[in-house]
Amino acid sequence: MVIKPTMARKAVVLSTLIALASLIVIHAHGKNLNPIPTKRGRLSFSPALRLGQPLFRRSRVYPVTAYGADPTGQSDSTNAILRAISDAFQAPSNRVLIEGIVDLGGAEIHLEGGTYLISQPLRMPNSGAGNLMRREEETRRVVDANLSSASGYDYEDITLKDLLLDSNYRGGGILVVNSLRTKIDNCYITHFTTDGILAKGGHETFIRSSFLGQHITAGGDKLERNFTGTGINLMGNDNALTDVVIFSAAVGVMLSGQANLLTNVHCYNKATYWGGVGIYVRLPGLSQTRIVNSYLDYTGIVAEDPVQLTISNSFFLGDAYIKLKSINGEIKGVYIVDNLFNGGDTGTAIVQLDQSKTPFTKIEEVIIDRNNAKGMALKSTVARGVAQGNASSWTLDFSKALLFPNLIKHVQYTLSTDGTIPNHALRNVSDNRVVVQSSVAVPATVYVTVDQGVSTV
Ligand SMILES: *[C@@H]1O[C@H](CO)[C@@H](O)[C@H](O)[C@H]1NC(C)=O
Ligand SMILES: *[C@@H]1O[C@H](CO)[C@@H](O)[C@H](O)[C@H]1NC(C)=O
Ligand SMILES: *[C@@H]1O[C@H](CO)[C@@H](O)[C@H](O)[C@H]1NC(C)=O
Ligand SMILES: *[C@@H]1O[C@H](CO)[C@@H](O)[C@H](O)[C@H]1NC(C)=O
Repeated sequence: MVIKPTMARKAVVLSTLIALASLIVIHAHGKNLNPIPTKRGRLSFSPALRLGQPLFRRSRVYPVTAYGADPTGQSDSTNAILRAISDAFQAPSNRVLIEGIVDLGGAEIHLEGGTYLISQPLRMPNSGAGNLMRREEETRRVVDANLSSASGYDYEDITLKDLLLDSNYRGGGILVVNSLRTKIDNCYITHFTTDGILAKGGHETFIRSSFLGQHITAGGDKLERNFTGTGINLMGNDNALTDVVIFSAAVGVMLSGQANLLTNVHCYNKATYWGGVGIYVRLPGLSQTRIVNSYLDYTGIVAEDPVQLTISNSFFLGDAYIKLKSINGEIKGVYIVDNLFNGGDTGTAIVQLDQSKTPFTKIEEVIIDRNNAKGMALKSTVARGVAQGNASSWTLDFSKALLFPNLIKHVQYTLSTDGTIPNHALRNVSDNRVVVQSSVAVPATVYVTVDQGVSTV
């Protein structure tokens, strides 16, 4: 595996505990211990020596200063940290995790609260290893970590924790390739030009309690239109983002794998009117994506040909909306329900279609309902209406309420009258207008429900 620090000629700061540890992540008390290198370059700690507990002499915590890393960030610490990583990758036993992945026994690379200058990526040895923690605490660190491997699953159960990665506008932050069960926890990643975090292949990268932004801003930045880069780019399956904020980037989260879950993700990375996207579901077809309990703040969601996509219980502020983009005309199993939308009375619709390439023609089980809009135009795939009058024809126009043009798959109506009971029938549903006619004029109320997305048998 490779931890790749930033390619900053100038400054990559890596502060803390780089722990290649794992399975059970025990957060080290490395800061309070006084590391003494053993002859194998591993570390033991003075309390252990004092207490005469041999157990401690076999500590799997690797404080980088013991390898000569400079915690003030003045001189280049790349090689020192690489040596610490190399030692941490010496497996203590021949136990394995998944086949081919050696258990590193919870080794932990500790950055000791420092700030480190890194001049090239910190790459983990490509040896098939797992159960490692890399942890950084406090202050500023700049690291461009590249966790990568050549093929198959080469890393398992790696934790990157408590890191501040400042890429110094020289590339990305963390690259995870073909890894299983990676945790990126409590990290702050900034000044990236490409991807703050890029996960390719593998599965179950869990990113939690983390903050990412190309520029450090609290929103409303006057250079917002110039934001570039992607906060989190997930090109694999089964990943989860939990409690994550993207505060500046052209695209907050890019999803091109399947079965990813986003919960409590707050995007205010770049407003829609500057060309930004909060969450981009880019895999056309079976994306199996769930975006729930999230906050899209002046920037929205774009989904291409979504098949199995749920967006629910989320809050859209500042005219943020959901754009459904047709690539091959397919949209199936899409639920957009129970969301709150708030806008500035500009008439912006909460869900919009982009059919510029080709119209949606394969539409099944699309349920957009029970959303709530204030200052925005509500759009749904189901609608209800009532018409009254002494007449023999009643027309209800649902074209403003319904999302898809000229599509009504199912209608139910009731004609209620105190007068003569006439013969009556549904006559026309073209252009999202429902026409009911009766044989004679009667004073009546006609109740109609329409549905665009339901599957009919
Ligand atoms: C990460 O490392 C891999 C493997 O060496 C390399 O191919 C890739 O270009 C690196 N990615 C970045 C963003 O540095
Ligand atoms: C921001 O981008 C605009 C073009 O979109 C450009 O004219 C301007 O110079 C850029 N500003 C900065 C500070 O880069
Ligand atoms: C309803 O309209 C018809 C035809 O215009 C008229 O004959 C009838 O009296 C009207 N009924 C009522 C209750 O107004
Ligand atoms: C249904 O209504 C449309 C206009 O909305 C019209 O063009 C069409 O001819 C009508 N169809 C029938 C069968 O009356």
